[in-house]
Amino acid sequence: MGKLRLIFLLLTSAGTVVVLRPLFSAPQPQHGYAGTEVCFVCHIDFARRWGQVSHSKVLLDKKRPADQRGCEACHGPGARHVAGERKVIVAWERLKLREQMAICLKCHQESVKAEWWQATSHAKMELTCTACHEVHRPVKQEHLLLRSPRETCSQCHERMAEQIKAGTHHPLAEGLLECNSCHNVHGTPYPRALNQQQEALCAVCHDRVPQPESHQRSDWRRAHRPKARAERDKCLMCHSQEGFCNRCHIVPLPHPQKFVTEHGPAARAHRQACLNCHEKKYCLLCHEAVPGGRD
Ligand code: HEC
Ligand code: HEC
Ligand code: HEC
Ligand code: HEC
Ligand code: HEC
Ligand code: HEC
Ligand code: HEC
Ligand code: HEC
Ligand code: HEC
Ligand code: HEC
Ligand code: HEC
Repeated sequence: MGKLRLIFLLLTSAGTVVVLRPLFSAPQPQHGYAGTEVCFVCHIDFARRWGQVSHSKVLLDKKRPADQRGCEACHGPGARHVAGERKVIVAWERLKLREQMAICLKCHQESVKAEWWQATSHAKMELTCTACHEVHRPVKQEHLLLRSPRETCSQCHERMAEQIKAGTHHPLAEGLLECNSCHNVHGTPYPRALNQQQEALCAVCHDRVPQPESHQRSDWRRAHRPKARAERDKCLMCHSQEGFCNRCHIVPLPHPQKFVTEHGPAARAHRQACLNCHEKKYCLLCHEAVPGGRD
């Protein structure tokens, strides 16, 4: 559904459809474009600032097709606008959010995959590209960012910044790590917009994740209950509930009533989980062989 919406870019002006064209079709119609030099004539102040942005310099390349060049790359064909029909131009203010995004995405599908972006909370809360990027005025930050990468995130993720301070989210070493070291704000195929599957993520930078002191006690496997209850967030900094804790905790604790006589189905479905907590000889107290498996 999201895809279909993006394939057609509806350029509307005061409610009338001016152009409806497939985003990926080639060649693009060359008519109706006035050329950026013409825009400069009347929008000189605007255009001067725009011209200083690195992005604009790339877009001004004469070899670009008309629909991907200069002002008209984002504001659509301007011939009628120049001829006096002033409202016949893409005015961003009047575009729907998804239409705005489609304009940026027609050139940025390499960096931002529409389907990954759509799955992020950021897209769901209707953030646009220009919430974080500036394309008209020169800015100090790299990547046309309005704020530094860290500020870009912390303006909304204050709580996360606090968690990092408190040691319940990964620490950020100044100059070494940013939120982007682990997340891609534009979305990824992995949960929580992580750059990697969570289980593989740590290995990108750590050969071995350091074990906390608590783990040094020999009975940690059985004795983690109190710490796990008090500091679950901290555990999840290194472990994932689904991938790690549920190796054992897929079977509820304490076991349900009558579990002694009714654990058959659970044991067949999650035999390995039983054996992560119980030794085989425990089963052999009542069974002749551990049921549900070949051994
Ligand atoms: C002959 C002078 C002239 C030229 C050339 C011109 N514009 Fe405009 N443009 C205007 C005027 C005047 C307005 C304000 C119209 C209004 O507010 O009704 C305007 C408004 C706009 C707007 C805002 C529209 C809106 O409804 O909010 C955009 C976007 C725009 N121009 C882009 C361009 C682009 C892109 C070009 C080059 C293809 C261009 N203009 C060329 C005179 C011009
Ligand atoms: C990379 C895309 C891009 C290019 C290229 C671009 N603009 Fe814009 N323009 C925008 C966006 C996005 C807005 C909405 C305001 C904002 O977020 O900065 C906008 C807003 C405007 C507005 C205010 C009315 C509106 O559309 O909301 C005018 C006028 C305008 N642009 C003119 C120009 C002119 C003239 C040029 C070329 C010199 C140009 N723009 C090039 C993306 C672009
Ligand atoms: C007509 C094509 C085109 C359109 C439309 C376009 N861009 Fe770009 N953009 C480029 C090109 C080309 C580059 C430079 C090459 C590259 O890094 O991909 C670029 C680079 C960028 C960069 C990276 C700058 C850097 O220094 O790393 C950002 C951010 C960006 N564009 C944002 C936007 C946003 C936001 C929009 C919509 C408002 C937009 N672009 C619309 C073609 C376009
Ligand atoms: C919530 C903030 C935010 C939003 C919204 C956002 N970006 Fe970005 N973008 C960033 C940050 C931060 C970086 C720097 C990433 C890095 O350093 O890896 C970036 C980098 C980029 C780059 C250059 C690096 C690259 O991956 O090629 C492009 C192009 C880009 N963004 C395009 C877009 C487009 C198009 C949209 C809208 C679909 C968008 N961005 C929406 C924050 C944002
Ligand atoms: C305008 C506000 C805003 C900005 C700016 C913003 N976020 Fe978010 N982000 C949210 C909201 C709201 C959610 C959903 C609730 C939550 O998980 O906290 C979210 C969710 C996330 C998630 C969880 C994954 C998902 O898609 O649900 C990650 C990871 C994330 N943001 C990273 C970042 C990073 C990295 C940056 C900076 C480059 C950033 N955010 C900038 C508002 C924002
Ligand atoms: C070293 C890697 C790493 C860094 C750096 C990092 N994160 Fe995360 N982040 C993760 C992992 C792993 C998860 C998933 C586990 C979890 O939920 O705690 C996650 C989850 C999240 C979530 C979703 C939390 C939820 O409750 O669903 C948000 C939002 C988020 N990170 C934002 C950020 C922000 C903002 C920054 C920068 C201030 C940041 N992260 C820096 C690894 C990192
Ligand atoms: C992008 C690189 C990167 C990734 C990915 C990464 N780390 Fe780190 N990690 C670092 C750096 C750099 C430090 C040092 C931080 C500091 O000194 O503030 C660190 C420190 C740590 C520490 C020590 C914290 C302390 O206070 O001593 C732990 C624990 C840790 N990482 C666990 C993880 C886990 C678990 C993951 C996977 C979710 C992960 N890291 C992924 C780069 C990374
Ligand atoms: C700094 C990272 C880190 C933190 C924080 C952390 N662990 Fe671990 N934990 C590890 C590593 C590394 C291992 C060994 C890796 C493996 O066996 O897959 C491990 C192993 C375990 C094991 C298995 C022990 C065994 O004998 O098989 C349990 C249970 C465990 N952790 C529970 C917890 C709980 C509960 C918390 C929170 C109170 C926690 N962990 C916090 C890194 C961490
Ligand atoms: C190797 C198997 C194993 C792994 C992995 C494991 N646990 Fe446990 N967990 C146990 C056992 C066994 C107990 C019961 C200990 C006791 O109290 O006798 C337990 C008890 C608990 C309890 C108390 C009982 C309850 O359900 O309230 C909590 C909370 C808990 N674990 C959390 C975690 C968390 C969080 C993780 C992942 C970070 C984790 N465990 C990983 C085996 C495991
Ligand atoms: C306290 C005695 C006791 C212990 C210990 C015990 N079981 Fe059972 N188990 C039973 C009883 C009673 C039944 C139900 C009678 C039946 O269906 O044959 C049963 C049934 C089963 C069944 C379903 C019958 C079958 O053969 O498929 C499986 C599977 C099973 N147990 C697996 C295990 C595993 C695995 C362990 C060790 C983690 C274990 N049991 C520990 C008493 C026990
Ligand atoms: C997370 C760890 C964990 C997992 C997984 C687990 N158990 Fe247990 N099991 C326990 C603990 C702890 C007890 C209580 C023993 C105690 O109190 O000393 C227990 C008790 C039992 C009992 C005795 C119940 C009673 O009421 O006396 C049986 C039978 C049993 N488990 C079978 C199983 C079977 C079968 C599975 C797999 C389906 C399984 N357990 C999975 C931790 C686990």
